[in-house]
Amino acid sequence: MASPLKDKHIIVGISGGIAAYKAPLLVRLLIKAGADVRCAATPHALQFVTPLTLETLSGNPVYTDLFDRTNPHSTEHISLKDWADIMVVAPATANIIGKAACGIADDALSTLLLSFRKTTFVCPAMNSQMLESPAYRRNIATLRSDGIIVVESQCGQLACGTVGDGRMAEPEQIIGQMQLAFSGDEHAALSGKRILITAGPTYEKIDSVRFIGNFSSGKMGFAIAEELSRRGAEVILVTGPTHLASSSPNIRRIDVLSAREMYSAATEVFPSCQAAILSAAVADFRPEHVADHKIKKQNDTDGMTIRLVQNPDILASLGNMKRDGQILVGFALETDNEIENAKKKLSKKNLDFIVLNSLHDKGAGFGHDTNKITIIDRDGTTTIGDLKPKTAVAADIANHLASLL
Ligand code: CTP
Repeated sequence: MASPLKDKHIIVGISGGIAAYKAPLLVRLLIKAGADVRCAATPHALQFVTPLTLETLSGNPVYTDLFDRTNPHSTEHISLKDWADIMVVAPATANIIGKAACGIADDALSTLLLSFRKTTFVCPAMNSQMLESPAYRRNIATLRSDGIIVVESQCGQLACGTVGDGRMAEPEQIIGQMQLAFSGDEHAALSGKRILITAGPTYEKIDSVRFIGNFSSGKMGFAIAEELSRRGAEVILVTGPTHLASSSPNIRRIDVLSAREMYSAATEVFPSCQAAILSAAVADFRPEHVADHKIKKQNDTDGMTIRLVQNPDILASLGNMKRDGQILVGFALETDNEIENAKKKLSKKNLDFIVLNSLHDKGAGFGHDTNKITIIDRDGTTTIGDLKPKTAVAADIANHLASLL
C-alpha cells in the first residue's frame, strides 16, 4: 500500500541539539516513503550534522541563512512555505519551541516556522529539567493550542549522562505519527490530539480509615483512554482509586483520591487539551469535617450524623472554561426521565455531547464489562446503542468525538 506521505512536499526543520544526528535518518525514511524533502537548519544544528549529508540525502540545498545571496529567491522562507505541504521540526529544542510560541523570527528556521500554516509537527528533544520547566510547559501548551502536533519525547539515556524524559522520539516513530495524521482513516482526526479523560470513583474521607465512595470500577473511562491512545491521541487520564492498569505509553495517568483533587488536576490540564471526556463517578458531597483519628463508637444509641457539603462540579467548571474549538463530553447516569434529564445536563454544563447510561438496562453501568449508551448531541440528535463490551462502546464514543474534531 502506498504511504500517505507519498508525493508530499515536506520541510524537515533541524534545530541545534544532539538529536540532530537522527535528522538524516528521518530524511532518508521520508524519501523512502515517497516524499519530496527539503531541509532547513539553524546554524547550531549544523554543528551536529553537515549540510552535505542533508543535501545528499534530500537531493536539495539546505536552507540555513536568511540573507544568503545565492538563494534562488530573495524571500526563500516564503517560497519554501508555499512549496511545502507539511513541516516537521526534529529535533525541536526548547529554544525553537520558545521562539515559535512567542512568534519570534530571527533566523531561517524560526522565520519559516512562523510563516507556515499547514500541518506542522514538532519533536521536542532536551534535558529533563528543561522539559519540566514552567516556561517550556507554557510554550508547548501554546503550540498545541495553535494546532501544532507534538511528537512526545521519550524516556531514556540523555546526552548529559542522566536517564530521564527528553530524548527525541525515534525517526520511525515520528514517521508513524505523520503517516497516521495523513492516513485519512479513523486515526486521522484523533492523531496527536491531547485529550483529558476522568475515570473511576472518588473517595471522600470521613476519618483516617473511612470514606464515602461509590461502585464505579473505572472500566469505561479506561476503555476510552486505551481506544483514543490506540488512535494516536495523547491521553491524560485523571483517575480515582481503581485496580485497573493502563498499558499504553500514550496515556499519562494522574491518580487522585477525592473530588477536589480530581477538580484541581482536570482544571489544570484542560486548557492545553483539544477535548475532554468526563466519565468519572464524582461524589457530589463530602463530609464537612474529616477527623484526623479513627472515630470511636459512641456509647449512646442515637447513632451519629455526618454533615455533608457540596463538591465542585468538575464538568460544569470545564464547561465554563471551554474555549472555541475545544470539545467537552459528559456522562449522565439517570434512573427517571432519562433523555430529558440528560438533555438538561448537556445544555447546563455547556457540553458538545452527552453519553447517557440508564440503570434500567441489564448489563450496563457500574462494574460490568458491557455497557449500553445513548449519545445525545447539542441539536438533540439521539443515537441509541446496543449492549456491547465496554471496549466497543469506547470505539463508538471515539468515532463520535472524531466526527466533531
Ligand atoms: N461530574 C463532575 N463533577 C461532579 C459531578 C459530576 O465532573 N461533582 C460529571 C460526571 O463525571 C459526569 C457528569 O458530571 O460526566 C454527570 O454526572 P451525574 O452524576 O449524572 O450528574 P450530576 O451533575 O451530579 O447531577 P445529578 O446527580 O443531580 O443527576
